[in-house]
Amino acid sequence: MNNEYILAIETSCDETAAAIIKDGKVIVANIVASQIESHKRFGGVVPEVASRHHVEQITLVIEEALQTAQLAPKELSAVAVTEGPGLVGALLIGINAAKAFAFAHQLPLIGVHHIAGHIYANALVQPMVFPLLALVVSGGHTELVLMRNAGSFEVIGETRDDAAGEAYDKVARVLHLPYPGGPHIDRLAHEATEAVDFPRVWLEEDSYDFSFSGLKSAVINYQHNLQQKGESIDASAVAKGFQDSVVEVLTAKTLRAAREYQVKQVIAAGGVSANKGLRASLTHTFKNEGIPFYVPPLHLCTDNAAMIGAAASEMFKARQFGALNMNGNPGMAL
Ligand code: KG4
Ligand code: ZN
Repeated sequence: MNNEYILAIETSCDETAAAIIKDGKVIVANIVASQIESHKRFGGVVPEVASRHHVEQITLVIEEALQTAQLAPKELSAVAVTEGPGLVGALLIGINAAKAFAFAHQLPLIGVHHIAGHIYANALVQPMVFPLLALVVSGGHTELVLMRNAGSFEVIGETRDDAAGEAYDKVARVLHLPYPGGPHIDRLAHEATEAVDFPRVWLEEDSYDFSFSGLKSAVINYQHNLQQKGESIDASAVAKGFQDSVVEVLTAKTLRAAREYQVKQVIAAGGVSANKGLRASLTHTFKNEGIPFYVPPLHLCTDNAAMIGAAASEMFKARQFGALNMNGNPGMAL
């Protein structure tokens, strides 16, 4: 049987990425053109700037992926692209490139959900075993997703306000740290010797939902109070206090859900799963619980196209193809 090679494209936010994935699990090429430097001076992603960068980079990253893989378009099995959610202008650049490529080379087109991609990043590291629980934590998402089978996604909990990564980035701004703030807070938290005591937001006892905006406000109020008293802020103690609160709530809810649904595997996904504190806490907790826990290596946690190719492989097997009139779907449901 011929090998399956999927060309995957991701442009939902601020990375222009193309990858080639063999048989759903082997990364043959993984090219990421980051725009972080351009967005840094604005303190966040500016949609128009993102679209412009995607236009400039998209053909280059696709060509580089094909060159790295030493493959001709006719050797590909399909073209996959992030269909949503994300910034609509950014999504459309990837989708139009994918449609043009698929049409020109007569290849099937596959529209992938960005979060399915983050979850399937794990399939590039080890086989996924079901039922599986995924904690998806990124700049735009905080969700607990139950997968009873391959390709099936049930959102059992989600944030009611800010995403975890969004809270990290907003707190980082208060501490005058560069964008994206997550890695800086993570580093400061590790250097800290003390932690400011911030609240844990649990919501209703049986809820798997999350809320981070109150915690963010607590940090802002703490900083204002000190400022008014003319006292300086210990940024590392604030970073540690904030991170301890986020990590404790994420870990506890993930553990409770893993027990309730008796899952065989727990995985973490999304940009915030790069967080050292969160990785350590989940690793320790599930080791004690006796449930295998995995998190992909750092470069597969943040946005990339390899994960989109891995998710697309499952859809390719199920012949879930998209049409050439595919549109960007910023609010796409999982
Ligand atoms: O998944 P991702 O690359 O993009 C989205 O789909 O949102 O996630 C980006 C988010 C940002 O909010 C960034 O601050 C956060 O992931 N992040 C981290 C860490 N590395 C990235 N948050 C906490 N600790 C980190 N080490
Ligand atoms: Zn993402």
